[in-house]
This record gives sequence, C-alpha cells and structure tokens, in this order.
Amino acid sequence: MNDDHRTISFTVNGKVISTEEAGDTPLLWFLRDNIGLTGTKFGCGIGMCGACTVHAGGRALRSCITPISALDGGEVVTIEGLSADSSHPVQQAWNDIQVPQCGYCQSGQIMQAVTLLNDFPEPTDEIIDAVMAGNLCRCMTYPRIRAAIKQAAASTKEAQAHG
Ligand code: FES
Ligand code: FES
Repeated sequence: MNDDHRTISFTVNGKVISTEEAGDTPLLWFLRDNIGLTGTKFGCGIGMCGACTVHAGGRALRSCITPISALDGGEVVTIEGLSADSSHPVQQAWNDIQVPQCGYCQSGQIMQAVTLLNDFPEPTDEIIDAVMAGNLCRCMTYPRIRAAIKQAAASTKEAQAHG
C-alpha cells in the first residue's frame, strides 16, 4: 500500500488494474510479482538492455525504470497481450526464422520491433540497427532479428495489399 493510500489504475492487456502499491514500484516488478505476467524479463534494471520492454500508450517503454505512478490512467501492453495466439506478424516472423537462442531478451526485442514497424513500415538495415540498438542480446541473434523484422514488414505490407 502506498503512503497516501492512493489508488493507481491502468489497463494491462486491456484489463483494468487498480492497486494501492507504492507509486514508485517499478512497473516490471508489478507486472511480474503482482499480476503474474512473467513474459517481461529483468535484465539490467537500469534502462540499458531492453529486456523489460513493454508498450505504454503504443510506445516502447523500459518497465524496469518506470514507476507505476507514471502509468496512472494509462494503457500497458505486454508480450502476453500482443496477440491471443502468437499470430502477430512480428511473432510469426520470429517463429518462422527461429530467432531466439536462449530466449531471454526476446520478448523485449519483439515489443521494440513492433513499435519500430509502426513508425517505419519499410525499415532499412540502418533504421533497424538504430532503433534496436538499445535491445541487447548476449546470444548475438542480431542478424536473425533484422531478418525477422524485414519479413514482418513484408508480410504486413502484403496483408494490407490484399485488404
Ligand atoms: S531490465 Fe529494463 S532495460 Fe534492462
Ligand atoms: S537470445 Fe539469448 S540473450 Fe538474446
């Protein structure tokens, strides 16, 4: 319970969550420990690795350094909420290309890639490298990440062309 007993409310994957946890609780902790969404990972805890990336208001957000008070009235989507059945074009491309090695960084990579493609529907290698630079992978899956982003871009374009 936070000091002033203030209720903080936001949606997570479309569901309204209300809590009296301390407002400075990091969103990552809240997602994993309070509501059991463990797909979002802890890597560095200081905003430097991208493992904890979620979406807030449609933008990529490092949940390890974001207090839940900053989300009050907002809208969060985690890897669990990207699609009901892993059918999002980015998830499909990740699966087709078998991007993950150990997998630890991958939910953050996917969440970052989704916002990249929203901003740049036909990204160049340079754009991919620049936007994904903050998402580290110690297994060095970067070439497959790049290929999967391009495949997702192509499949999204094709789906749009066919209405
Ligand atoms: S755990 Fe959040 S950026 Fe590394
Ligand atoms: S797949 Fe192992 S850290 Fe990225």
